[in-house]
Amino acid sequence: MYIDTHCHLSKEDYDDIDLIINDNILAGVEKVIISGCTRDSILESIELSKKYDCVYVTLGYHPSEVNEINDNSLLELEDIIKNNSKVVGVGEIGLDYYYGKDDIDKQKKLFRDQLQLAEKLNLPVVIHSRDAVLDTINILKEYPTLRGVIHCFGGSLETANIYIKMGYLLGIGGVVTFKNSKLGEVIKNVDLSNIVLETDSPYLTPEPFRGKKNSSKYIPLVAEKISNIKNVDVFLVEEITTNNANKIFDLK
Ligand code: NI
Repeated sequence: MYIDTHCHLSKEDYDDIDLIINDNILAGVEKVIISGCTRDSILESIELSKKYDCVYVTLGYHPSEVNEINDNSLLELEDIIKNNSKVVGVGEIGLDYYYGKDDIDKQKKLFRDQLQLAEKLNLPVVIHSRDAVLDTINILKEYPTLRGVIHCFGGSLETANIYIKMGYLLGIGGVVTFKNSKLGEVIKNVDLSNIVLETDSPYLTPEPFRGKKNSSKYIPLVAEKISNIKNVDVFLVEEITTNNANKIFDLK
């Protein structure tokens, strides 16, 4: 059975969530972890985790929320995490310089505040890093006891090895199936024990469905691609990545 370690499941994107959950089970995806990373999606993902056994959540403010949050946001976040047993991590949190660096200091502060929260609550972190690899690595090094997943990893083999050495797993999703993807070199040279599968749905739909709305049910396509690249049986990819996900997020 598979685990989608990172998706965004919301009524805004999917009319019928019962159907999505059903399709997941038919496709062999037994658990999904929703990343609640805006205030609305934090509250909605908690509700979904109460409704569905197979739904877990990680919660944290995405760097793009840096101007949306207020003084109370982090206290409220801590409170929600403490009061919900299906919260299995903090994230996605991190740095995003893709749209510019105007708010870089605010982003760094928000990132550090949430890393401290994860440390305090003894939870793994889910890291979003876009065009910010050096700052991400340097800040994570300030918290050497933390572990987690580098969500939607898209860097070089050298960067992958730095994260792995620091105790992080690589979140690999639909991008690995894209024709122009450079992830093959990374996947080939990295042990399966360092990889978890994710969709980031509704975004980043794997081939041959690229361009359509993504869903956790496509996780097997990601596993298949990884098995082709590494020339190993897809069941091995399934077994190892599921074990990795259960372990890092301590899923019951
Ligand atoms: Ni995401």
